[in-house]
Amino acid sequence: MRLVILDTQKSVGEWAAKYVMKRIKDFQPGPDKFFRLGLPTGKTPLEMYKNLIEYQRQGKVSFKYVKTFNMDEYVDLPRDHMQSYHNFMYQNFFQHIDIDPKNVHILDGNASDLNAECERFEAEIVKAGGIELFIGGIGADGHIAFNEPGSSLVSRTRVKTLAEETLRGNASSFFDNDMSKVPKRALTVGCGTILDANEVMILITGAQKSFALYKTIEEGINHMWTASCLQQHKNVLLICDDDATLELRVKTVKYFKGLMSVHSKLIDETD
Ligand code: GLP
Repeated sequence: MRLVILDTQKSVGEWAAKYVMKRIKDFQPGPDKFFRLGLPTGKTPLEMYKNLIEYQRQGKVSFKYVKTFNMDEYVDLPRDHMQSYHNFMYQNFFQHIDIDPKNVHILDGNASDLNAECERFEAEIVKAGGIELFIGGIGADGHIAFNEPGSSLVSRTRVKTLAEETLRGNASSFFDNDMSKVPKRALTVGCGTILDANEVMILITGAQKSFALYKTIEEGINHMWTASCLQQHKNVLLICDDDATLELRVKTVKYFKGLMSVHSKLIDETD
């Protein structure tokens, strides 16, 4: 596991975007070799999307040969609803880049058979060759995608009922602080789906996520903090700001800050 600690939320977004750009370029995607990218919604990745849009505009990266797979989507929220993850992704990213919409994959939370939709999504990932880089965030209760506390750490894409904490978090960020407006169920990739990716990159910012980061990396693997499943993955990159490290041991922070010159090389060529 690599932990990159940066000063601010803004620098987390910049660093993450540079990393994604470098991974896509190094992969040298083409018509017979698509880069498969797993993507999150939420406030945390917004700065990364902004930077990626800018890099694409400057011609530094292209999404022409990229296939995307989003982590999750609400159930029963119309696709064109302001807060649907479809809408979020098009407004904040896809409509500003050169991706072909046919290469965008987002779960359909309005499908008549939700279980079949989840199976179809898993099959699409396999058909595409698996996910090369899965990007995610974490909830304050340590959830990853919508794998709420107590989720199986080998779970696959499925329907989940959302936890109180998630409803509260998403209400305050996106639904006028009104919990009754937040859909109670969602479709989400499972922990197992995420762990199958070749690489997982997680963005964590703000003091409100610091306890979750501590539980994710400094304690044992535990299904009540589902992001801790990442300890079992061979290639994980966590990018956080200083505030998110508030609950970590000083020793842990010192150790990873000491490795910063090594980690900086991960994005070197794009500077
Ligand atoms: C939701 C999403 C997660 C996301 C989390 C944190 O619950 N399903 O994928 O990581 O919110 O979102 P934010 O970045 O807004 O804090």
